[in-house]
Amino acid sequence: MTPDLMEQGARRVAKHNGIELPGNTESGGREGGAGRIAIPGEVDVTHGRILYLEDVCVSFDGFKAINKLSLDIAPGELRCIIGPNGAGKTTMMDIITGKTRPDSGTVFFGSTIDLLRHKEAEIAQLGIGRKFQKPTVFEQLTVFENLELALKTDKGVKRSMLFRLDSAQSDRLAEIIETIHLSDSVSRMAGNLSHGQKQWLEIGMLLMQDPKLLLLDEPVAGMTDEETARTAELFLTLKGKHSLMVVEHDMSFIRTISEIVTVLCDGSVLAQGTLDEVQSDERVIEVYLGR
Ligand SMILES: Nc1ncnc2c1ncn2[C@@H]1O[C@H](COP(=O)(O)OP(=O)(O)OP(=O)(O)O)[C@@H](O)[C@H]1O
Ligand SMILES: [Mg+2]
Repeated sequence: MTPDLMEQGARRVAKHNGIELPGNTESGGREGGAGRIAIPGEVDVTHGRILYLEDVCVSFDGFKAINKLSLDIAPGELRCIIGPNGAGKTTMMDIITGKTRPDSGTVFFGSTIDLLRHKEAEIAQLGIGRKFQKPTVFEQLTVFENLELALKTDKGVKRSMLFRLDSAQSDRLAEIIETIHLSDSVSRMAGNLSHGQKQWLEIGMLLMQDPKLLLLDEPVAGMTDEETARTAELFLTLKGKHSLMVVEHDMSFIRTISEIVTVLCDGSVLAQGTLDEVQSDERVIEVYLGR
């Protein structure tokens, strides 16, 4: 059998098993994962990237909201994204999570998972969690019940009713309650929590699913200074165990948590570096910080 035929055969088998082989993908493939097979449930980060966007474009009625956007994120990294209103920050998250389809470009999760081939719900299952700006917890349920519920999604009504946490899940829930600073509020109704506490609870609900990558859009908007400081602490503890992409306008918050900061403007990367580096960049000052 020729190498070509062998490869075609391997591809057919992999496709049948729901496994993606690198190369020959709908978006053109990438050299990154050559020779490796994606194991379902695992993200191949051997090339040092958990998220990879290249030349992504999206237009809305002819307006280029995302324009040749390229960036990548390392496993365990906490990446901050800043930029003026309308820069395309939220739209970028919409693309990563499958809410918006780009017109062109490449979006990979690890070296082998082509996100453009997956639907929104599948992307969440693959391990990408997203936090929208407004807290969306179940107000009539307790903190504990909200976290418990986060494990039940997509189990169906009958299986949900029969669902009981196993001991590993109980341990995980206890650890997450501690992490999100809600140990004293386990039995409180979520509706009675402060705005900041609701935000932490929602982050806790995402953590229950053990996401590999967390996207957080303006997480400290509307928080008190004390809540903001606690959120910074929280993100620093999550870093390393998870990869985080944090969009924020609050520069003192960014200063506390940031390593690499990416500045978006007009749908593409304007500058990237430490906060000090981007803050002293003339182009950044002109479009954003100097306002
Ligand atoms: N579904 C849509 N239809 C039409 N235009 C859209 C849509 N989504 C976003 N846009 C436009 O794309 C541009 C980028 O918007 P986006 O919300 O991504 O910006 P942003 O960087 O998140 O801004 P902000 O800091 O204000 O949240 C804006 O001009 C917005 O009006
Ligand atoms: Mg936005």
